[in-house]
Amino acid sequence: MNPLRSRATRVSSRKGIASAPAPLDARAPDASPGDYADFLRLTLPRQRKSVESHRLGSERVWLKKAGPRHGKLRYHLLAAIAGLLRLDVLKPVPNPGGEAAIAIEARRLRELGATGLRVPAVLAQQPEGLLIADLGDSGRPTAMLQDRLDQAFGTGPSALLAVWREGLDAIAAVHARGTYLSQAFARNLMVCPDGVIGYIDFEDDPGATLGLAECQARDWLTYLHATGALVDAAAPHGAGAQWHAVLADASDDVRERIAIAARRMRWLRHLPASRRWGRDTQRVRAVALLLGLWHAR
Ligand SMILES: Nc1ncnc2c1ncn2[C@@H]1O[C@H](COP(=O)(O)OP(=O)(O)O)[C@@H](O)[C@H]1O
Ligand SMILES: [Mg+2]
Repeated sequence: MNPLRSRATRVSSRKGIASAPAPLDARAPDASPGDYADFLRLTLPRQRKSVESHRLGSERVWLKKAGPRHGKLRYHLLAAIAGLLRLDVLKPVPNPGGEAAIAIEARRLRELGATGLRVPAVLAQQPEGLLIADLGDSGRPTAMLQDRLDQAFGTGPSALLAVWREGLDAIAAVHARGTYLSQAFARNLMVCPDGVIGYIDFEDDPGATLGLAECQARDWLTYLHATGALVDAAAPHGAGAQWHAVLADASDDVRERIAIAARRMRWLRHLPASRRWGRDTQRVRAVALLLGLWHAR
């Protein structure tokens, strides 16, 4: 059974309702830049949630609205451990929230898009909100890689490993362009209708406080934090082979930082396995176990 499934299901279905695509109309003429700007200006004050999808003619668009400052403090334990172990690569980057977060997201989406990576196009921007393109097309929706992983876990270890590898390759593709993500969780990796993985959610920029190698090492560990419990339950050894295959193309600096994290986190494999301790504990324990297994010396 999926070790994190019960809570995970609730979380993803809640998101699913918020972002469930409504049926698209028959094709209407494409909107112009002015239309996007008008739409953003008119819709922004009426939108309650921080992220919502809308229909503009035949097109699905997403509006991200400036919200209160928040540090994504869901990962308390990870943050505490990062401080304790002096592991900057695990520290949550401060999320400035508000208009600063909107500006960062717009800039990063443009930068990443300019390198040829699959990110939503920025259609219109205001200080308080951003209108971005849907990563799906003509009513064919995207799927969160996290959901694909959960499904694959039910099918079996080799199915899980294949999907997990897609996520690793997607992160490697970003790094190969000399850049990094920021919230490299599997829920922010979107499988597009053509099978290419797109990247979303850039409200913070770890590059503001960390160097490139640290940002990239952080992406790997973030992905592992999101997926480690599944991988550990399904195919820890097979995943190790994939991990090393992908990291072979990483820089020495990145590999070194991951090796340091593996060493310093080693003792965390003794964290209690019981679900009573919560998902965050299970996640950190899985990361420590897997890194210990893969980087044993
Ligand atoms: N451009 C997009 N294309 C498709 N889905 C999107 C897009 N932007 C956001 N979403 C959906 O909305 C959810 C929340 O968006 P995200 O940018 O990750 O904000 P949050 O900070 O709330 O995590 C995503 O998990 C995804 O399902
Ligand atoms: Mg997100």
